[in-house]
Amino acid sequence: MSKKIYLYGNWKMNNTYRETEKFFEEFPGVYEPFKNDAGLEVGIFAPFTSLWPLSQGAKKCGIVFGAQNVYYEPKGAFTGEISIPMLKEYDVTHIILGHSERRHIFFEPDEMIAKKTKAVLEAGMTPVFCYGETLEERESGNTFTVMERQLKAVLDILTPEEAAKVIYAYEPAIGTGKTATPDQAEEVCKWSRELIGNPKVVILYGGSVKGSNAKELLSMPDIDGALVGGASLKPASFLEIYGAYKG
Ligand code: 13P
Repeated sequence: MSKKIYLYGNWKMNNTYRETEKFFEEFPGVYEPFKNDAGLEVGIFAPFTSLWPLSQGAKKCGIVFGAQNVYYEPKGAFTGEISIPMLKEYDVTHIILGHSERRHIFFEPDEMIAKKTKAVLEAGMTPVFCYGETLEERESGNTFTVMERQLKAVLDILTPEEAAKVIYAYEPAIGTGKTATPDQAEEVCKWSRELIGNPKVVILYGGSVKGSNAKELLSMPDIDGALVGGASLKPASFLEIYGAYKG
């Protein structure tokens, strides 16, 4: 298989500052065999408070690193928020936006996620834009209506050049224990590529990706990589996914 594969770990609210330091004590050794693989891009997205040790560790390993959210205003009276200039001082280049947990637990609306995506692009950084339906929405036959609404909200305010720079991540029904089959994931990623209107955009799949299912998912023609939650928290389980894909 010759396509470039993206293996991104979303740590969510896991791995403290000290645990992140520990992760990188183990990670370089594990990562070594994969380091020179031009067909692979590894990235890790940590909580804000772990960004410093993440940046130090990631730079040593030559991997991409980023945050899991950001606000679109550069500064001001926005208690509890983090701005793009704040992240830039940590050399952050990639930011996850619109994760299903942000949408469903913290009620972030489509318009806010779209504005964040635009602001990140305008700052010269790469948004990892997440979208996807809940289990209820899938079971009621609304998968494509929901995703069209989520994607259109952002595509409406981006230029085609900006839309081409976004990394899209399809993450359905997260946290329900039910995951999409490779065929279902492929169907949505293919459909998304057509809706976005650019065959070259990068589209990841996220939802219980692990060593045992990675090969099948990553072999799908419209899936360019994985956004991995639980299996990214330890170096060995994270890279088992790559091993499975290659093997
Ligand atoms: P899991 O891999 O733990 O199912 O998490 C998926 C996810 O939400 C990644 O962003």
